[in-house]
Amino acid sequence: MSIPDIILADQHKIPQIGLGLWQVKDQNEFDGAFTAGIKAGYRHFDSAQAYGNEQMLGNAWQASGKKRGELFLTTKIGVQNFRYKKAHASFEESLAKLQTDYVDLLLLHFPVTILRKKAWKALEEIQKAGGARTIGVSNYTIRHLEEMKNYARVMPVVNQVELHVFLQQPELVKYCRDHNIAIEAYSPLAHVRAMDNQVINDIAKKHGKTYAQIMLRWCIEQGFIVLPKSVTPSRIKENIDIFDFKLDEKDIELLATQNKNLRTAWSPVHVP
Ligand SMILES: NC(=O)c1ccc[n+]([C@@H]2O[C@H](COP(=O)([O-])OP(=O)(O)OC[C@H]3O[C@@H](n4cnc5c(N)ncnc54)[C@H](OP(=O)(O)O)[C@@H]3O)[C@@H](O)[C@H]2O)c1
Repeated sequence: MSIPDIILADQHKIPQIGLGLWQVKDQNEFDGAFTAGIKAGYRHFDSAQAYGNEQMLGNAWQASGKKRGELFLTTKIGVQNFRYKKAHASFEESLAKLQTDYVDLLLLHFPVTILRKKAWKALEEIQKAGGARTIGVSNYTIRHLEEMKNYARVMPVVNQVELHVFLQQPELVKYCRDHNIAIEAYSPLAHVRAMDNQVINDIAKKHGKTYAQIMLRWCIEQGFIVLPKSVTPSRIKENIDIFDFKLDEKDIELLATQNKNLRTAWSPVHVP
């Protein structure tokens, strides 16, 4: 099965599906998920300083026998490391834990008030020095992105936000499309908070697919990069097995009506 790449505005490629790594609890669990992921065809892994598992990812990829260039690794600067010098220093620590000399994608995890400007400057410098191929942001609203026009030398080409059938964020999606910012959909299964929607159940039955596969396929067809998390090998495989069918027009129409503004993670909406 071949996983499509998306070409970002900076011309780097990113696999359209990545394995989410938040809340993977120890090296044993991590190794199981990583090995199942590689076996199922994942090449893209989404970590963060805040997840406390960069070292586990470093250990797992080194043990996998994969060449570094075969993998796409993301990390994020944690909110406690947004001061300019701290952003640089903490990134060096991330590289050491990940056991690599670059990451494919480096994000600012959250639009931390005031500090986000200098933190972005650090990311621009890290990219220039070769430490990160692509730089972007996470949890940024339109307002935070607009503000970047005043201080960024390099605009972000990725915004990682909570996005799923139940939180469709149409204004943000339109803004990002208009500005050539790729969207990474996090919590694409709505953190399993709403797995009993009849519309999705019916579409799943029609295509002979599972509930989760319909939620993930919807993200793919919207053009998002999708980041489902699982530590269960059968689900890891199920979640990537979404490239052999298509939703039809009627499905897309019905799914468009299921937006409920359901947020399952932190909301950046009121961050000044
Ligand atoms: N940038 C940010 O602020 C931010 C915030 C949240 C998340 N993220 C990223 O996005 C990733 C995914 O988000 P998430 O972890 O919040 O939620 P999610 O992927 O929407 O849901 C994960 C949950 O769904 C379960 N699951 C996975 N596949 C399933 C399937 N096929 N059927 C039924 N249940 C299934 C998992 O259980 P098991 O693991 O037990 O299988 C886990 O409990 C994170 O891991 C992280 O990489 C980023």
